Amino acid sequence: MGRPNHQGTSNLRGGAYRVLKDAYVRASLRLARPVSREIHDDVSRIVERHTNRQMRHTHAVARESYRQVEALVGLYSTLGFTLPLPPMRGYALSPDAAVEIVRLIHESRPSTILELGSGVSTLITAYALRRFGGGRVISLEHDAAWHEIATGYIVEHDLSDYAEVRYAPLEEIEIQGHPWKWYDPSALQGIDSVDMLVVDGPPRSTQPLARYPALPLVGHLLTHEAMIVLDDTVREDERSIIRIWDSESGPFRIEEFAAEKGLTVMRR
Ligand SMILES: C[S@@+](CC[C@H](N)C(=O)[O-])C[C@H]1O[C@@H](n2cnc3c(N)ncnc32)[C@H](O)[C@@H]1O
Repeated sequence: MGRPNHQGTSNLRGGAYRVLKDAYVRASLRLARPVSREIHDDVSRIVERHTNRQMRHTHAVARESYRQVEALVGLYSTLGFTLPLPPMRGYALSPDAAVEIVRLIHESRPSTILELGSGVSTLITAYALRRFGGGRVISLEHDAAWHEIATGYIVEHDLSDYAEVRYAPLEEIEIQGHPWKWYDPSALQGIDSVDMLVVDGPPRSTQPLARYPALPLVGHLLTHEAMIVLDDTVREDERSIIRIWDSESGPFRIEEFAAEKGLTVMRR
């Protein structure tokens, strides 16, 4: 049994390799002889597989981060924000999805946008409306604290002419004999026609298929040309909702954007 040959581990990097190499050296010392070729090869394979997976993940994260920064730069340069934006991604809209929403606003010049689930998206939508000739976004917010935060964004950025966040706690509502939690319908008062519906709430933690009620309960307000924009469509729940809407109220033209969390636009 010769000395273990380190070929095959030469492209390994980082902490995982060091930890395993130390373990390997300790094992050799304990046995007072080099560990067997088989053990060495096994350890090398495990380290290599782990390290390669880690490197692929790191590259994917770096690529995605670059894409999001690129989108963010586009938003800043197009919309001329008065103040820095609140943080994006996570619960909030990602920059790549925001860019698509801004493009849609630029293309279709909606007069009334109804948004379900407020936040930085409400702010960006209001900036886009201001930039491209006017209109109004009304955002329903089920959470009292977020209602205050999102209203604060609008006031701070001086966009009250373009956006309003309405507090609409979730209530039990029936659709075809089944109970759902949905925004207090009285929050829709005064809205008689919607050109763009942006569905980014309620959060999925509130119920399975949490956003399904949007179309059954708000669909009657949509103009014939209206578009429905659904965020988070990489998730299985949202994919099911698209299928159900399409079969119950479609057919729709369905366009999917390669945003990090998935963004889908449905039109008649
Ligand atoms: C998916 S988030 C909606 C995000 C919003 N459309 C946006 O892009 O900023 C659903 C709910 O989470 C809450 N929320 C909004 N922004 C959030 C944030 N940055 N972090 C945590 N929760 C947030 C609000 O109650 C909102 O109705």
